[in-house]
Amino acid sequence: MTTATSGRTTVTGAVGTAHTRVEGRDKVTGAARYAGEIPFAGLAHGWLVVSTVARGRILSVETAPVLDMPGVLTVLHHGNAPRLEIDYIGSLGVPPDPTAAVFQNDRVPHAGWPVALVVAETPEQAREAAEALVVTYEREPHDIALTADHPDAYPVDGHMPGVTQKGDLEAELAASAHVVDVEYTTPEEHHGMMEPHAATARWDGGRLEVVDSNQGTSWVADELARMFSLDASVVRVRSEHVGGGFGSKGIRAHQVSAVMAATALQRPVRVVLTRRQMFSLTGYRSPTTQRVRLGADPDGRLRALDHRSLSRTSTVWEFVEPSAGVARVMYDADAHRTANEVVRLDVPSPSWMRGPGEAPGSFALEAALDELAERCGVDPIELRLRNEPGLGPVSGLPFAGRNLAACFREGARRFGWADRDPRPGMRREGRWLLGTGTAAASFPAGALPSTAAVTAEADGTFTVRIAAADIGTGARTALTLVAADALRVTPDRVRVRIGDSDFGPAGIAGGSMGTRSWAWAVTAAAGELRHRLLPGGVVPPEGITVRSDTTAAIGALARKERHSFGAQFAEVAVDVTTGEVRVRRMLGIFAAGRIVNPLTARGQLVGGMIWGISMALHEEAVRDGASGGLYGPDLAGYHVATHADVPAVEADWVDDPDPDDPVGIKGIGEVGIVGAAAAVANAVWHATGVRHRSLPIRPDRVLEAGGPRV
Ligand code: MOS
Repeated sequence: MTTATSGRTTVTGAVGTAHTRVEGRDKVTGAARYAGEIPFAGLAHGWLVVSTVARGRILSVETAPVLDMPGVLTVLHHGNAPRLEIDYIGSLGVPPDPTAAVFQNDRVPHAGWPVALVVAETPEQAREAAEALVVTYEREPHDIALTADHPDAYPVDGHMPGVTQKGDLEAELAASAHVVDVEYTTPEEHHGMMEPHAATARWDGGRLEVVDSNQGTSWVADELARMFSLDASVVRVRSEHVGGGFGSKGIRAHQVSAVMAATALQRPVRVVLTRRQMFSLTGYRSPTTQRVRLGADPDGRLRALDHRSLSRTSTVWEFVEPSAGVARVMYDADAHRTANEVVRLDVPSPSWMRGPGEAPGSFALEAALDELAERCGVDPIELRLRNEPGLGPVSGLPFAGRNLAACFREGARRFGWADRDPRPGMRREGRWLLGTGTAAASFPAGALPSTAAVTAEADGTFTVRIAAADIGTGARTALTLVAADALRVTPDRVRVRIGDSDFGPAGIAGGSMGTRSWAWAVTAAAGELRHRLLPGGVVPPEGITVRSDTTAAIGALARKERHSFGAQFAEVAVDVTTGEVRVRRMLGIFAAGRIVNPLTARGQLVGGMIWGISMALHEEAVRDGASGGLYGPDLAGYHVATHADVPAVEADWVDDPDPDDPVGIKGIGEVGIVGAAAAVANAVWHATGVRHRSLPIRPDRVLEAGGPRV
C-alpha cells in the first residue's frame, strides 16, 4: 500500500502543451483493435442485403435456396424479424432514423434500404449467400430531384426554429444603396471516414453486449435499449477506438441487425458495412439550394439580410440541414430573415455531417458577403468588421466572447492581406490566374451533461472512467491532460478509460461538444478527489473513487451566444484553359476557447480546412434519376482532396478562453470546415472575375465560365 499523495503534486500545466496521442503507439503498431477486428469465440457473420429499387414494396424474400448454401445460419427480413420500438425521442432530442430500425415492414423508401441480413459462419459465406438472395419488388415511381421551386418544400417547424424574421425586408432592400440577390447550390456529400461501421453483438449472462464503432457508447446503448424494449442496465456498448465519425456514427442498421441476429442465434454476430452500403445507410450531407439577399448602405452597413436554404430528406425521417442558421449569429440587419426548408424525397436519410448547417450555409452567406464587398467597394474584411453585431442578431443575447475581429486582424497580418489589389482577374503567372479570398467561420460551443469517475489508485496513479468517444480527434489525450491539471499531477500518472457505456451517461463526440463536455465532468470529479486526498493520507487497495455529474452545472450556464469563430484565407491559381483550380495556401485563425492540446487541435482544424478545399473543388455525389441510386458510391467514384490537392495549410488561434467553462474550452470539432469553401470560392472569383455559385468548382464549370472576366 502506498499513498497517492506522496508523489509529486505540483501544478503541471499540461493543458495547453503539445502531447502526442496516448494511444498513438498502439495505433501505428496495429495493437489498437477496431470494432470489426476484435476476436470473439463462436463468432457468426451477418451481411446486409439492400434494396435495388428506389421506391416500392417487397413482394418476396426467397430464403430457401440461400439457407441451403454452405455455412448459412439464418436470413432475417421483415417477415421474421422482431418488432422494434421506434416511436420515441432519443437522448439527442430526435427520433431515430427508421433506416436503423431494420426489417419492420415491406416498404422500400429509397435505393440501398436494408431488406435482409444473411448470417453465416464466415464473412465470405455470408457475402456469397447475400449476393445470391433473390428479393422481388413491386416498383413505384420515385422522385429524387431537389429543385429550388419543388412544390413539396415546406419550412421546418422542429426542435430548432425553421424560420426567424424581424423587420420589413422588402422596404429595407428597396432603401439599400447596394443589393445582392444570388442563389447558391451545394451537392450531396458523404462522410467517407476510414473505418467502416462495424458492430458485434452477443448475449452474455443476461446482458446484451455490443462492441461497436460509434460517437457515443451511452447514446447508442440508450437507443438500443429503447428499440428492443430492454432495461437500460441490460445493455452495454463498448467502442474503444474509432476510425473517424464526422457525424455518421450513431445508431445504424449494423448494430440493430447484429443484435437481432445474436438474439435469434444466441451466439455472437458481427455486421460490418461495406463502403458501398455506407453511402446509403449511414447518412450524408443533403444537397442544398440557397438564396441570399443582402441590402446595404453605401458604406456596407447591412439594412437587409435574407437567407433561405432548402435541403432534402427521406420520406422516413425529417432530418434538416439547417444552413440558414449561420446568419442568426454572424450578421445583424434592420430586416433579418432566415428560413430552413426541407422537401421529402425518395432518397436515403441524410444526417449530421461535420459542420451540419454551418458548412454549406457559410459557403452561401460568406460568398454573398464577398459579392457585397465588391458592390460597395469595401474590403471584404472591413465589410465584416463594419457588420460585427454587439448582441446575437436573432437571440438578442450577449456573446460569451466573440473574437472574430481578432482572428481577421491576425490572419490578415500573417496572410499578407494589406497588399491585396481588390480588382479581380489582374494577376497572372504563366498560364495561371492568381487570387486570394477570405471568409468568416463560426460554430456553436455547447456542452452536454456527462458523468465521470476518477479513482486514486493505491500505487499513486489515477484512473479516469468516462463514456467519452475518441473518434480520431485526440479526445483521450486531451482528457488525460485535463485530468492531470485538475489532480495537479503529471499526465504520466493518469490513465483515461473511455468508450464504455457502463461508465455512465456522457455526452457524444458531436456538435463540437465532446471534449468540452467530458473535460467538465472529469475536472469536477478530479477536483473533488484532490480535496478528499489528505496530505500523507493512505489510499486503500481498492482506491478512492469520486463521481461527478455535470447536469446541474450545465443547466445553470448563463444564457449567452456561445460560439467558436474563425477567419479563413485562401490563395488559388486558376488555369481557365484547362479548368484547373489549385489551392496554393490556406490560413485559418480561430477563436475557439482554450486549446487543450495544440498538436491534435491543429490537426483537427487543418483537417476541417482541407475538407473545405475538398468541398470547394472535389466532392459531389451524383444520383442517377432512373435508378435513384448513386453513380460510383465508393472512394474511387466519390472524389475527395488528396495529398496532391493540399498545399501548405496553417491553422492557429487567438487567446479566447470561455469564461464560464471550468477549463475555458469552447470546441474545435467543426469550426475548421466552416467558411473554408467560401474562402476558396472567393479566391477563384478574385483570380478570374467569375462567381462560381455551385459547388464543387469543377474543371468543366471553370472551363465553361472562361475568364478572366472583369
Ligand atoms: Mo458532428 S457532424 O456533430 O459528429
